[in-house]
Amino acid sequence: MSVKTDPVKTFIENPYEMFKQANEINPIQWVSFFNVNGWLITGYKEVEAVLKDTRFIKEIRNLVQEENMPPIPQTLVPVVMLNRNMMLFRDAPNHTRLRGLVTKAFTPRMTERLRPTIVEMANYLLDARKGKTEHELIRDFAYSLPVMVITELIGVPKEDRERFRVWSDSFVKFIDFNTTQADLEAVAPSLEEADHYMRNLIAVKRVNPGEDLLSGLISVSDSGDKLNEDELVATCLLLLIAGHETTVNLITNGYHLLLKHRDEMKKLIDDPSLIGNAVEEILRFDPPVLLTSRWVGEDMELGGQQLKKAQTAIIALAAANRDPNIHESPDVFNVSRGNVKHLSFASGPHFCLGAPLARLETVIALEVLLKRVHDVKLLEEPVRRNNIVFRGFETLKFSGVVE
Ligand code: HEM
Repeated sequence: MSVKTDPVKTFIENPYEMFKQANEINPIQWVSFFNVNGWLITGYKEVEAVLKDTRFIKEIRNLVQEENMPPIPQTLVPVVMLNRNMMLFRDAPNHTRLRGLVTKAFTPRMTERLRPTIVEMANYLLDARKGKTEHELIRDFAYSLPVMVITELIGVPKEDRERFRVWSDSFVKFIDFNTTQADLEAVAPSLEEADHYMRNLIAVKRVNPGEDLLSGLISVSDSGDKLNEDELVATCLLLLIAGHETTVNLITNGYHLLLKHRDEMKKLIDDPSLIGNAVEEILRFDPPVLLTSRWVGEDMELGGQQLKKAQTAIIALAAANRDPNIHESPDVFNVSRGNVKHLSFASGPHFCLGAPLARLETVIALEVLLKRVHDVKLLEEPVRRNNIVFRGFETLKFSGVVE
């Protein structure tokens, strides 16, 4: 009797095994990957080269005339338009223009200035756990911290914070490689709601500007034709949503790894100066974003393979991070590993704009957890979220005494 295994479940449980097998065959190969056929790229050198190569592009409309593409179902038109205005899905020169405007308002220095606020927020969340011994990391801590930080930075009123969870979940579904049209249609209304929310907030901030990032971007858009209203809405939603799920997952994947590797946790408790390196190792070993994609912009030869214009490149960031040509014992989690190279924030023109913020939040989150929560124990093996691109858990239950 043969037992049928679910390939999605198998992949989600351990994507690294599949990536390893693929990489051993060829770091670039043509595959059928869930709902997508394309070139799966798994070697570090190859992934980095593709991310930096502007012949690999984000906008299929730059390759294929709109009338030759499958029509967009009417129900999805508003959401597709919203996504099309996000820098993440655009190519130069529009990508360069949008990214340049945000970079000016969202600098690493501005992020660093948030440090005391993030420390305060993390401690506030743990204060609420005092006297309790059983915790659920996402509900009690990891979900709230990034949402508090990003809404504060952008200028979203406190009472609206909770709404971002639903919007963020819908956005994540939109990016998944395994999503059907029915799934997309199910989440589209929630993204339309996010779009309406942001338009209203912009109208309010126009009349009453603050010191926040949104007010800064509005003044840029109103002072010329640099950023139109649709792009402004899409940019703010991208910042709010894209960085949310990812940071929650980085904190949770990280704490899970430490709970499972007690020697590594002890190393960090004994020497807190290792924390920055530990976060890089978490990003390398179990990253929040496993994959991204590009369109092949022109016929070309790469790694001995003939790639054709308009084919898909499936870029396995997480596979590159465990390439044995780059790392010794890549499948070992080691917080004191030297020279932790990874591509978890991508590379090239779309390198993650929120990387300094995500790093800072995760360093502080883990520092505070390690310092204040003692006698910790995982209460049950956590279940992974059902997504092929974003890697996280549904819940992470553990016990511990909060100081
Ligand atoms: C782009 C990962 C947190 C904002 C990206 C990309 C990756 C990534 C892999 C590039 C995708 C591609 O090239 O196709 C992550 C991870 C995070 C994180 C792993 C947390 C651990 C954040 C945060 C923000 C943010 C906190 C903002 C507050 C962005 C933006 C882009 C981006 C705006 C698009 C950049 C562009 O297209 O030029 N991120 N991200 N990310 N990320 Fe992040």
